[in-house]
Formats: sequence, structure tokens, C-alpha cells
Amino acid sequence: MSKSLFDNEASDSEAWHLQGNWGPVKEELTSSELIIKGKVPEGLNGLYIRNGMNPRSGYSDHWFFGNGMLHGFKFENGKVSYKNRYVKTPYYEKDLDVISSFSDLSASPANTHIVKHAGKLLALEEAHLPWEVDEELETKGVYDFSGKLKGAMTAHSRICPKTGELLFFSYSMMSEPYLTYYRVNKKGELIQTESIELPRAVMMHDWNVTENYVVFMDLPVISDMNLAVETGSPFGFKPECGARLGVMPRDGSNEDIKWFEIEPCMVFHALNSYEEANKIILYVCRQKEAMVGGFQDIYGGDTTLGRLWKWTIDLDLGEVKEEQVDDAPCDFPRIDDRRMGQKTDYGYCMSFDNKADSLTLGRHLLKYDLVNKKRLIHDLGENVKGGEPVFVPKSKDSDEDDGWVLVLAHEEEEAKSKLLVIDSQDFESPPVAEIYSPQRIPYGAHGNWMPAN
Ligand SMILES: [Fe+2]
Repeated sequence: MSKSLFDNEASDSEAWHLQGNWGPVKEELTSSELIIKGKVPEGLNGLYIRNGMNPRSGYSDHWFFGNGMLHGFKFENGKVSYKNRYVKTPYYEKDLDVISSFSDLSASPANTHIVKHAGKLLALEEAHLPWEVDEELETKGVYDFSGKLKGAMTAHSRICPKTGELLFFSYSMMSEPYLTYYRVNKKGELIQTESIELPRAVMMHDWNVTENYVVFMDLPVISDMNLAVETGSPFGFKPECGARLGVMPRDGSNEDIKWFEIEPCMVFHALNSYEEANKIILYVCRQKEAMVGGFQDIYGGDTTLGRLWKWTIDLDLGEVKEEQVDDAPCDFPRIDDRRMGQKTDYGYCMSFDNKADSLTLGRHLLKYDLVNKKRLIHDLGENVKGGEPVFVPKSKDSDEDDGWVLVLAHEEEEAKSKLLVIDSQDFESPPVAEIYSPQRIPYGAHGNWMPAN
């Protein structure tokens, strides 16, 4: 691998993201002989896929830079099979490092998320184009919406359950426009591209979508190549740059955006957002600060852990009310995706440990009852860590929260990984099924459920 701007930060193979269950696995496996504790619900039919970083060489400069590996669990009438495959992009084929990959928009690690829209299954990372894969997890090719997507695609797109649209953005560290907005119709045609003005390049990992608006988060983890030369890191937390929320109609443009100032902070992941009369409500996992010591410093103490916050944007008064919902460190927030952009009563998160000296997942899944302001806890058990909870409805028409929560968990002492199926309405009870994978599954990023029909 070539030398990179990050060499001075993590040239040792002892880095936390290469240790224990953060470290990569080597084999691509296919198995229908899985050990299952409990009973897999008969009505749960479909495919759960989780993406994550798995450096092919065994080494990457940063957790974010490992090659994307997909782990898939296929559910068919109470039976489950497993498969894992790399996303085979030029980043994988040529064993590139991230700086080399910037010269080729197709050379994605494709390691952050997986989304299905208009029949296409796309593996996503935020600095490159999407890569299409099939439901056997085999790589099909780079995907650019018939040549209309000329920049990167965020890993955190949103699908509107009412219109079927896929909404996403792209941010650039290198050159203006630092932000671009895209709208894809339900047939998969890219129908809108808007350049958005920002005063500087910032890291923008996630955003918010309501029924009529999108809300961008211009937060002060700034991106500056001069900073990289000075400090070795292209990202740094600069609260003096201020923080803003930008509200734009979904079919609007830069001229239509209204910006609202908030307290400087960082948000990697948003839970959900919706409109209420002249207000927009956002639930986010807010960090007081982030990457204070540079890009490598994902965990920099308690102030860099996410907590659930509620932001209420008053469109008439031009103000944002900022309220902390809970003090429990958490992130990887998810909802019942059928409610994306609409009022949601429930949210699901992964807890984080605030006593560690590196980024450490907690042993709890959290379910927030946002109406009654209650937090339910699913205890994964001693020395078991989890990941992003993904909600699956029991049926297309079932009520919000009437379904299963799927989460990939890892038994650290046994070095065994398992997919848990938790009854969401009996959230604090043991899982109804624990499905063990034939080899461990490294802690990773995001996943989704693709129903069989
Ligand atoms: Fe993310």
C-alpha cells in the first residue's frame, strides 16, 4: 500500500480497530448448517445484510478504511442460511489505500451500508459511488444512476415510505460544491441534483428527511487539507466555526434553504425527523464534540459519545430548542422504517460503554418510548457486545413496533457471533432466536432487512 496522510497516526498493527472482534476475518463462507438456539419465527422471511470494514490485507490505517464485507442471513420459513462476501470494487481488487482511492470515484471500500431501492441492492460508503450487489452478495458493478450521479453518495440515504423516493446527499472534502442534494424517484431515476453552498468543507455523515423537507447538519468537524499537513489529520473539531441546521423543501434548491444556528456539536447518526405544524422535530445521537485529537480519535472520552437529543426547529420564530432526552451513551439509532419522516413513537439504539479507553460497544440494546419518555433495556449478557438494531415489522400492515429487532451480537470470551431475533414488544426478555454464524463476524457498520415479498 502507498504512503498516506494517515501514516503518522496509525502505523502500528496494535490499533484498536484491528484487535479482537474489530479485526478482520479471512474466509468467505456459505452455510445452511447453522446452530440455532430458540425458534426462528416462521413469518420472518427475507434477507438481513450487514456491511462492515474487513481489511483484506489484515491492516488498514483507520477503522473507516477496511474493505467492505457483507454478511447475509437468509430467512425462509423458519430456516436460516448464512453467507459473507467482500464487495469486489477496484479498492479490493487493487488493494488500494484511501488516499489512492480518491482519484477514482468508483474505487470505493463500499463498507458502510447496504440499501435496496427500485430493485437495486447498493453497497455504500460516503466518498465514492455506490456498488451494486445481488442477493447472493456477489458484486455486479459500480452504479451511477445511468451516468447522472457524478459525485459520491452518502451511506445514509433515506427511502420515503409514502412516495417511494430515494433521497441522498454527497459531501466533498476537496472542492466546491461541498454539498450536493439528490432525489431519485420510485422507479430509480435520478430526477434532481442541487448544489448546496457551505462556507467550508465539513464531515457530514448523516442527515434528516421529513414529509416535505430535508434538514442538513452543518456541524464543525471541518475538513481541511491544510489541517492534514499541519496535524496529520484532515478532520478536526472547530466549534468556533459554529453549527447550523439547513431546512430545504424536498424539491427545493440552495436558494430555498433556511439555516438555523445551534450549539456546536457533532452528530454521526440521526434517529428520525418529522413535521408538527410549523415545527420540525429531529431526534439525533448528539456528541458534545468529536475527533478532537484528529481523524484517528473516534473515541476521545465521554464528551465524544452520542446521547439521544431532541431538536425542535420553529420555522416561524427561526429558533431551535435543544433538549437532551437521555444521558445513556448510545448510537446506531434505528426506527421502524415504514415511519421514516413521520412521527415515530419508538426508536432503537446500541449502547456504548463510557468507561473504556477506546470505542467500546456496550452490552445493552436500548428501546426508546418517545411518547412516554421511557427507556427499555435488552441485556445481551456478560461479555456480549452488539451492534445496530434493525427493526422488521411482523407484517406490512402491523403497527409501529409490532415486529422483531435483529442485531448482530458477539460473545467476546467464546469469540462467537450470532444474529439475535428479539420480539420488540417483549424487548427486555431473552431473544426468541439466537442464530450462530459459522465464523465470527467483526463489529461493523450498518445493515438492512430486505423482505422476501
Ligand atoms: Fe453511519
